[in-house]
Amino acid sequence: MPGTPNPLSEMGNLEGVVVSKDERPNTSFNKSALPGFKKAVRGRRAIRIFDGVPIPEDVMRDCLRDAVLAPSASNLQCYEIYWVRDEGKKRRLAELCLGQPGATTAGDLVVIVSRVDLWQSHLEKMTDIMTGKGKNPLEGPVRDYYENIVPMLMRTDRWGFHNLKRRLMFWYRSKSEPTVNGPVKRADHRVYGHVQATLAAENLMLSLAAHGYESCPMGGIDKRGIGILLGLPSTAEVTMVVGAGAGTPEGLFSPRARLPFCDLVKEV
Ligand SMILES: Cc1cc2nc3c(=O)[nH]c(=O)nc-3n(C[C@H](O)[C@H](O)[C@H](O)COP(=O)(O)O)c2cc1C
Repeated sequence: MPGTPNPLSEMGNLEGVVVSKDERPNTSFNKSALPGFKKAVRGRRAIRIFDGVPIPEDVMRDCLRDAVLAPSASNLQCYEIYWVRDEGKKRRLAELCLGQPGATTAGDLVVIVSRVDLWQSHLEKMTDIMTGKGKNPLEGPVRDYYENIVPMLMRTDRWGFHNLKRRLMFWYRSKSEPTVNGPVKRADHRVYGHVQATLAAENLMLSLAAHGYESCPMGGIDKRGIGILLGLPSTAEVTMVVGAGAGTPEGLFSPRARLPFCDLVKEV
């Protein structure tokens, strides 16, 4: 809201949560980080045929740690990442990816799942982390944000009472000032969850590229079947599967193609 301090910007002094100044991008970054970053971003392609050899465990773990560094709304991290290691499950998962070669030949398969249904437990866990298990209680706007605003945005009930409350509140506020206008309904919460999950997936794929491995995001998959395979509740939603490994030369099906830059990026 205009004039109100951004509560999240007040979290800068949280020990252990925020990186030190030296670790944050600065002018020396473009010498050290930029060339590698460009290589990873520009080198990442959707690869459909891998050599089938699993990626070394330490590399996978490192990439998964990078994945969870992705930003998320209110830092609620409403997703889960399933690194499928069991051979039987991996075979079944590849079938549920409709037998796509990006899955059947992958050394590793990772399922990215939207878990917006876990918002409340993640909020409680994050509050514990931010407050050192209640030793340093949140104060001021940060406290208001996590205790009132986040639950107001996320809470749902069977009868749609909270949805209606949000819709009316946003409508009323928007008459006098710029205001957020979502999430309101279940569809908005679903989008919210897939957004967070997708950002984590992109971090994973870029980290794989930086480690010299390739990947294939797959959305043309049997998401319901995968949910059953992983024992997910019906409130969880599979976002995508990422096949990963060492790509073969034939695994790159076509040259990179993009729409004209001006169709995608607008200067206004
Ligand atoms: C959400 C999503 C779903 C995708 N689903 C599939 C898929 O099911 N099978 C596949 O081979 N590629 C899939 N892709 C890969 C895209 O086809 C690919 O990223 C696009 O053609 C651009 O190519 P590039 O990634 O090599 O630049 C998917 C990508 C995304 C982001």
